[in-house]
Amino acid sequence: MDKIGYIRSTVYFLLLIATNNAAIVDIKTKGAKGDGITDDGPAIMKAWKEACEGPPPGSLLIPPGTYMSLAVELNGPCKGPLAINANGATIKAPPELAKFTTESWFSIRGVDKLTMTGGTFDGQGQETWKSTKCQETTKCQIPVNLRFSNLRNSLFKDITSINSKNFHISLRGSDNNRMENININAPGNSLNTDGIHIAKLNGLNITNSKIGTGDDCISFGEGSRNIRIEGVSCGPGHGFSIGSLGKFPNEEPVEGILLKNCTVNGAINGVRIKTWPNSHPGFVRDIHFEDIIINNVQNPVIVDQEYCPNKACTKGAPSKVKLTNVSFRRIRGTSASKVAMKLICSAEVPCENVEVADINLTFNGGPATSQCTNAKPKITGQNVLGVCAA
Ligand SMILES: *[C@@H]1O[C@H](CO)[C@@H](O)[C@H](O)[C@H]1NC(C)=O
Ligand SMILES: *[C@@H]1O[C@H](CO)[C@@H](O)[C@H](O)[C@H]1NC(C)=O
Ligand SMILES: *[C@@H]1O[C@H](CO)[C@@H](O)[C@H](O)[C@H]1NC(C)=O
Ligand SMILES: *[C@@H]1O[C@H](CO)[C@@H](O)[C@H](O)[C@H]1NC(C)=O
Repeated sequence: MDKIGYIRSTVYFLLLIATNNAAIVDIKTKGAKGDGITDDGPAIMKAWKEACEGPPPGSLLIPPGTYMSLAVELNGPCKGPLAINANGATIKAPPELAKFTTESWFSIRGVDKLTMTGGTFDGQGQETWKSTKCQETTKCQIPVNLRFSNLRNSLFKDITSINSKNFHISLRGSDNNRMENININAPGNSLNTDGIHIAKLNGLNITNSKIGTGDDCISFGEGSRNIRIEGVSCGPGHGFSIGSLGKFPNEEPVEGILLKNCTVNGAINGVRIKTWPNSHPGFVRDIHFEDIIINNVQNPVIVDQEYCPNKACTKGAPSKVKLTNVSFRRIRGTSASKVAMKLICSAEVPCENVEVADINLTFNGGPATSQCTNAKPKITGQNVLGVCAA
């Protein structure tokens, strides 16, 4: 390279660094105090606006430290890909529910190619769980820790969410995303604190994560499609749950779910599909659970098409949600109740093409039993479980 060429490429190189640096927006430069008392939400929103609207790729930095923040809304579209780096940062919500008037604490909406890394989001929900007053009125909103809507081609990793006042993470209307090494933690008796709630999206992989809450570890609502869950441990909580479905008209089907190499510890349910009786029509198809380890779980495998908590429905009439192509393979461990597998399907639209293979579930040291209603599962492999009379 001649001298001019060298100078030219050096200048280009420095320019490149300069433009990249310009795009990293540190919330401290936007007024964040990081004293754990001052509301740093406005600084986060200011930094987001600059990173999102600046030359791509944008980058927002929440440096290590402890922050307090009220509700934050971060909206796209952005000029291009955007990164949020919160490694080493702990962000706390005020404990008082009265300080919130929104259904989310952190809401991120409408971005293509977001990469969100690190951060501990502490919802401080302990006070909120004590009272059901808020659930009983329609005016009151309980914020979800992290609400992701209309995000695409994005990656969420190394994120911790604890003690949310409501669900920890809600992901809706968001196609083709990945979540890796997500840590979610709330006590087993905390109210309504689902780990990750998914609905109306196509394409999501969740890997190597750990979830323990007072409600479902992962719940799959209507329109959950093409989802792969691998290497996730769950417990305490209500397990991995599809549904509940059929309560509302015109729900989108749930289809294409693979839950593999997961562990459930001391939860109420292991893997579950639930639909309401006397329901609206719907479909659940192509759902596969494999290589699941169960430790001391009340209902390790459960299809419940008569799901009716708190008598909130009229039993009697069957569910109209049709289950097809569902498999349970290589599920082993200990059940906390005698009937470890319950397949309670609808009398009107019986489960079709259910496969059960290599189930090794014990209760008190002996084989557990199973119950099948309106289901004639195809049973293969070696089963250490009293298999239902088909
Ligand atoms: C999920 O993982 C599968 C298998 O590795 C891959 O084919 C698919 O593209 C991944 N989906 C997303 C949204 O990353
Ligand atoms: C299964 O999941 C665990 C995490 O729970 C992970 O460490 C392990 O590598 C996974 N095994 C396979 C074969 O994917
Ligand atoms: C069930 O699986 C079979 C064989 O893989 C496939 O031909 C059929 O279309 C599937 N049915 C539904 C409703 O997914
Ligand atoms: C069932 O599980 C028990 C305990 O993990 C194990 O000792 C036994 O070999 C398993 N049986 C089969 C048939 O896999």
